[in-house]
Amino acid sequence: MSLDNAKVVSWRGAREPAVRDRLERPLQDLRISVMDRCNFRCPYCMPEDKYHKDFEFLKTSERLSFEEIQRLVQVFAGLGVRKLRITGGEPLLRPSLPDLIGDLSRVAGIEDIALTTNGVLLAQQAAALKAAGLSRVTVSLDSLDEGVFLAMSGGRGTPARILDGIHEAISAGLTPLKVNTVVIRGMNDHTALDLVEHFRGTGVIVRFIEYMDVGTINHWRLDDTVPSRDLVQRISARWPLVPVDRNYRGEVARRYAFADGQGEVGFISSVTEPFCGACTRARLSSDGQLFTCLFASHGLDLRGPLRAGASDGELGDIVRAAWGRREDRYSELRAARKPDGDKVEMYYIGG
Ligand code: GTP
Ligand code: 5AD
Ligand code: SF4
Ligand code: SF4
Repeated sequence: MSLDNAKVVSWRGAREPAVRDRLERPLQDLRISVMDRCNFRCPYCMPEDKYHKDFEFLKTSERLSFEEIQRLVQVFAGLGVRKLRITGGEPLLRPSLPDLIGDLSRVAGIEDIALTTNGVLLAQQAAALKAAGLSRVTVSLDSLDEGVFLAMSGGRGTPARILDGIHEAISAGLTPLKVNTVVIRGMNDHTALDLVEHFRGTGVIVRFIEYMDVGTINHWRLDDTVPSRDLVQRISARWPLVPVDRNYRGEVARRYAFADGQGEVGFISSVTEPFCGACTRARLSSDGQLFTCLFASHGLDLRGPLRAGASDGELGDIVRAAWGRREDRYSELRAARKPDGDKVEMYYIGG
């Protein structure tokens, strides 16, 4: 293979070609949905009326097996991916997940494996996940108020159970542990400060996510989104905040430290302050489709070639070509865009 010097970067001293898209963004992170099902029915993601008991989720045979996921991760690692995030749906519904974590932690080049979960099954699985090689977890928790929580989870789970999961994950060493809170105006914005108060000083990093227009079923309206700057002001009025530098280029959350040294909070503001310019993330659905943007309408099938016997080199060429064509920057274009009818749903490719 001929190496174009301008596109060669060094990873831990090794020289490998870094795959770049049309906007010069390298491919560095892979987010893998291992399960399209979820045990919650958050109305903004999987509303019960659509995802009812007869809804047809993928068949087991349609989901990538652990061996297939590991193969693809090897291919992605060869193209520059260093960070993995395991998502769903709800990833802890996938049987024997620690086995997959173990497989992935052995792939050369992978330095960080994180998992996003709603936390219901976390307490019982935390120790096994850590032992298998999981680095850290991010737990979705929209409110500590039981009524608000249930309204946002579709009546599933309880805040106490999620807090128990968080506690066990910290005890197991799955840290730094982050809590993701989607803020929807009129639903949970009035309970945001309670979350800050609860986790301040515990080492847990709460991140408030601006409610986004992912998929087509959540009937999103711009007015439902609470701009992060409003929340920063409200929190800062009670506990003064100081902006902190990003941990790494492309970090989606803007960080603020409590001036009194009690930790930090983050804000993910894809609606009011899009971060497409530094987006290095690819997404893999549980049936092996590659998405180059959270807001894409179509994926690229990798399972077909994989099951037809493609070699690692051939799979790498497919991914390299797809990334090379990439010019997604949906959030930056959102304001100028007309509503789109067929975006992929978030539970299918994960956050
Ligand atoms: P770390 O910094 O590695 O902890 O992860 P992260 O900040 O990427 O966080 P996480 O995976 O928890 O993402 C949090 C949320 O940010 C997701 O659930 C999405 O709502 C949003 N998000 C993450 N990546 C993107 C992205 O590429 N585009 C947009 N628009 N939103 C994103
Ligand atoms: N906007 C912002 N965040 C969302 N999530 C799901 N749907 C949306 C949306 N429309 C969040 C979940 C979870 C993560 C996987 O993505 O609450 O924290
Ligand atoms: Fe499940 Fe997360 Fe979607 Fe809620 S937001 S339904 S927990 S995948
Ligand atoms: Fe990346 Fe698409 Fe999100 Fe922009 S909207 S940050 S391109 S995933």
